[in-house]
Amino acid sequence: MTDSQADKILDKGQRPKGEGNTTRASGQPIASENTSVTVGQQGPVVLDDLQLISKLAHFNRERVPERNPHAKGHGAFGELHITEDVSGYTKAKLFQPGTVTPMMGRFSTVAGEKGSPDTWRDVHGFALRFFTEDGNYDIVGNNTPVFFIRDAIKFPDFIHSQKRMGQNGLRDADIQWDFWTRNPETTHQVAYLMTDRGTPKTTRHQDGFGSHTFQWVNAEGDAFWVKYHFKTRQGWDTFTDAEAEEMAGKNADYHREDLFNAIEDGDFPVWDVKVQIMPVAEAEDYRFNPFDLTKVWSQKDYPLIPVGYFVLNRNPRNFFAQIEQVALDPGNIVPGVGLSPDRMLQARAFAYADAQRHRIGPNYHQLPVNQPVNQVNTYEHEGPMQYFFNDPEDPVYSPNRHAKGGGYLDGDVNVREETHLADDVYQGAKTHGQDLVRAPYVKHSEDDDYVQAQNLYNDVLNDEEREHMAANIAGAMEGVSAETEERVYAYWGKVSEKLEKRVRELFAK
Ligand code: HEM
Repeated sequence: MTDSQADKILDKGQRPKGEGNTTRASGQPIASENTSVTVGQQGPVVLDDLQLISKLAHFNRERVPERNPHAKGHGAFGELHITEDVSGYTKAKLFQPGTVTPMMGRFSTVAGEKGSPDTWRDVHGFALRFFTEDGNYDIVGNNTPVFFIRDAIKFPDFIHSQKRMGQNGLRDADIQWDFWTRNPETTHQVAYLMTDRGTPKTTRHQDGFGSHTFQWVNAEGDAFWVKYHFKTRQGWDTFTDAEAEEMAGKNADYHREDLFNAIEDGDFPVWDVKVQIMPVAEAEDYRFNPFDLTKVWSQKDYPLIPVGYFVLNRNPRNFFAQIEQVALDPGNIVPGVGLSPDRMLQARAFAYADAQRHRIGPNYHQLPVNQPVNQVNTYEHEGPMQYFFNDPEDPVYSPNRHAKGGGYLDGDVNVREETHLADDVYQGAKTHGQDLVRAPYVKHSEDDDYVQAQNLYNDVLNDEEREHMAANIAGAMEGVSAETEERVYAYWGKVSEKLEKRVRELFAK
């Protein structure tokens, strides 16, 4: 990837610089942005003032719901550079030596609302998107290596306890501590939060972590468990509690402003990308459960391995289009990386896209900042605000007669009859339970796809009903291609040769 590819991501969606007359959103020139149309000089405004109506109506729809957690955030764009060779651990294209991948990052607080102060004591989100040749890869982490809980079923309760009371809408120390103290697994994360790292000085002066255990898979198919560390080259710097409180009053957007200004000034922040790698075979007996998000892996046991660095060297062109509408999602994984038996991670792989369908709309992938840089081949289509559509020759379903096999990706692999490892998600979990599979229904002694249709045709229907059925089939075949016509005969031939023969006769008429 070249520099210009990073710029192209920022360019997407930007209109040319405004010139000439203002227009309505549908392009027509506007007579006035300043004075409404009225009935005579002193009369009321009228529905005929197309621009007034459109302007007010669009204004009423300018907001999308804020993210539930992590509502307050800011972001920037840049590049990931791979300087080391970690191909022994992963085949992911973005991690191959010398690769440069355009990226963006969004940095947030967890509990506060969209306008809340950046410097309130909180864990801070550290979410990265890499625009890779295999699609978007998102690492949606925090500035701490662990989390408060280890089971997703507690997550809504946890967030409720950090946000506001039901009755009076106030934040409340009692509910925070009530939740924490009733859930001892929070201790490690709360200890971290109560250090001065709970009030980082700026976004630039903090480390980031993938936090969960993820999977890397190399070209030979060997799997490893991996944890990501993003080490700030600016050095960790923190506020004291008093400094953070003072800044919250003085400048609620301190972190947002600091990152924006640093990039405007050419003082680009850099983070070194490092990983801890655990061979799959060591997971079972490691002294901590390696998938428990409330625990770190000791760096004495699994030292940091350098991978490369990323630099944030481009500011967004438009906050709403490129930061508010970005849809970062732990479920966005690419070949060579995977999930793990971490239950929090599995829940997150569901929760983000679900939130984004609600927050932005079901076609959020089609917005410029969410579009991958590679070609999208999908059978998902339609829904509000569809922008892209498939080639008219491409089918809208799978499987199909267009040489697309069982789908664009699984080719001709017939996953209906055999059991396959779902190793695109993660592999090697056997020691912690059953491997994930995509498997067919278990067949019982009489199970067969045709037997009950045969019973219906041969034993239940009378001659008249059989004749009607053949005629109905022939009628419904109107318009099929020659290839499909033959498939239909073969299909019914498996039910009854008599039926096939009769359908042929009737369709030929
Ligand atoms: C089961 C646990 C969790 C659930 C259900 C959950 C759910 C969510 C949801 C629904 C959002 C808003 C997404 C959007 O509207 O775009 C969000 C944002 C976020 N979450 Fe979580 N979360 C969980 C745990 C975590 C953990 C463990 C981390 C970090 C290690 C994390 C980091 C973030 C970050 C950084 C964002 C903001 C992403 C952005 O900048 O757009 N979350 N979370």
